[in-house]
Amino acid sequence: MSNTQQVLIIGGGAAGLSLALRLADRVPVCILAKGPLTEGSSLYAQGGVAAVLGDQDSIESHVADTLVAGAGLCDQAAVRFTVERSRDAIAWLIEQGVAFTRLTEPGGNGPFDDYHLTREGGHAQRRIIHAADSTGRAITTTLEDKVRAHPNITLHEHHIAIDLITTARLGVAGTNRCLGAYVLDRRAGKVRVFRGRAVVLATGGAGKVYLYTSNPDVATGDGIAMAWRAGCRVGNMEFIQFHPTCLYHPKAKTFLISEAVRGEGGRLCLPNGERFMHRYDQRLELAPRDVVARAIDSEMKRLGLDCVYLDISHQPAEFIREHFPTIAARCLELGIDITREPIPVVPAAHYLCGGVATDLRGRTDLPGLYTVGESAYTGLHGANRLASNSLLECLVFAESAAADILAGPADQGGDVAIPPWDESQVTDSDEEVVVTHNWQELRRAMWDYVGIVRTDKRLARALSRVQLLSREIQEYYANFRVTPDLIELRNLVQVAELIVRSAQLRRESRGLHYSLDCPLPDDSRPPRPTLLSPPRAG
Ligand code: FAD
Ligand code: SIN
Repeated sequence: MSNTQQVLIIGGGAAGLSLALRLADRVPVCILAKGPLTEGSSLYAQGGVAAVLGDQDSIESHVADTLVAGAGLCDQAAVRFTVERSRDAIAWLIEQGVAFTRLTEPGGNGPFDDYHLTREGGHAQRRIIHAADSTGRAITTTLEDKVRAHPNITLHEHHIAIDLITTARLGVAGTNRCLGAYVLDRRAGKVRVFRGRAVVLATGGAGKVYLYTSNPDVATGDGIAMAWRAGCRVGNMEFIQFHPTCLYHPKAKTFLISEAVRGEGGRLCLPNGERFMHRYDQRLELAPRDVVARAIDSEMKRLGLDCVYLDISHQPAEFIREHFPTIAARCLELGIDITREPIPVVPAAHYLCGGVATDLRGRTDLPGLYTVGESAYTGLHGANRLASNSLLECLVFAESAAADILAGPADQGGDVAIPPWDESQVTDSDEEVVVTHNWQELRRAMWDYVGIVRTDKRLARALSRVQLLSREIQEYYANFRVTPDLIELRNLVQVAELIVRSAQLRRESRGLHYSLDCPLPDDSRPPRPTLLSPPRAG
């Protein structure tokens, strides 16, 4: 694993796969994934990818919608950079073979005129290109086939990165830079060294820090925690997007009911069938997600409900089955026929708007280390992400990071010897229950105290719980051999602390951060992102 010419990409979602394909004709690429290659949020993405494709649409309109959703905190340069590249990103996906849903009747002569565009909250236009309601699967499986067939790409599935290797950690003098990562090969039970001329974190989000989430199990914030420990700043970690409509059913673990259901006319209602969104926002069900999630939360608290309902059954059954085959089938498995009855839904943690601070080329504070996709904080999303801008960000920043890597030197830090992982001071754990218990306690505390509606008191309570857990987990980590669960828990507790500390620093309500103690935005000065710096690089 000592290839210093290769680019090491940690993560096999939309960000990692597209980056690999952008690089592999020119340089060797190695991809690590902690489970099967594509197991991650990208695979489960439903609604689609936002892009300026239709005649009626414009870059200005998409930029304006993104800025409005971001509630004054978007980096305007990042927004424009992303939106301007959206058309090319979709053209590239189509070129790779992604089969987006087409109109039944041909639409016109433009390159995208035959594609169906759906609508989601906060978008002034129909601009979401999609593959029915399983867009993520269409994208990842297409890219996966290409990646698996590429002779210049090596794959290591079931390999979980533990920590980044930097010159500072090795005590090498000079500017700190990233050399690679220590990685646990889960099947062999061995920690190995992986090197790269550049290392890219494409490790996705951190939804598992909350008890209820739309995210798959791999979303444990590993990249963010690793980058923080290696000395990188993180930004806007307080902005957690809660998706308003996750299926509420005892047998349904993390199943999303796409916003496109509301885009195609779905109505939110109480158990008695009464609609309620008019009491919260004139855009009704198509208000941005933070507004809809808070409205649902407020109705559930006001009436003591376990869930509310999303009803699309007024649309023709054939239309529903054609547009939402995955959702209809999954609900039917659980005994809910969405063509005839409403769907029970609740909000759940869905997306992390913050992450490792990067520039427009995906570069972090640490030379040699890039971050792309949900683990990055690029400035695109501000205080609230506009629906379907995330996959777009993965694609656009994968391309710009690839260009930067290719323009950089071919071998960096290749002369530095990296010692093997040291297990001489640790033994096998005698009490795995500590990991399970702390895992549950952390997620419960974050859900109860750092959720949709926050207060100073709840945040203080969360911080003291999280810091206590952090001390226990660090002690455990120092004494026992690493396991995948321990690696993830150590990262989750780190990310939880960053979320709570960022939330405490924001003395206002803005976008996704809503505090009863400061219920209004502070308009007395220009809004600023929350940037945290690690105590010291190392
Ligand atoms: P992921 O796709 O999550 O991939 C992360 C990868 O990193 C995985 O391969 C994982 O194994 C690997 N990894 C993580 N940690 C480690 C480690 N320590 N070592 C090795 N490998 C590691 N966005 C949209 O724009 N449109 C949508 O329609 C949409 N729908 C969504 C629906 C759902 C249910 C969810 C959960 C999210 C949705 N999103 C959507 C958000 C979007 O899917 C994600 O933000 C995006 O897919 C993230 O892609 P990624 O490549 O950054 O990470
Ligand atoms: C959805 O389909 O509702 C998810 C879209 C997104 O998260 O952008």
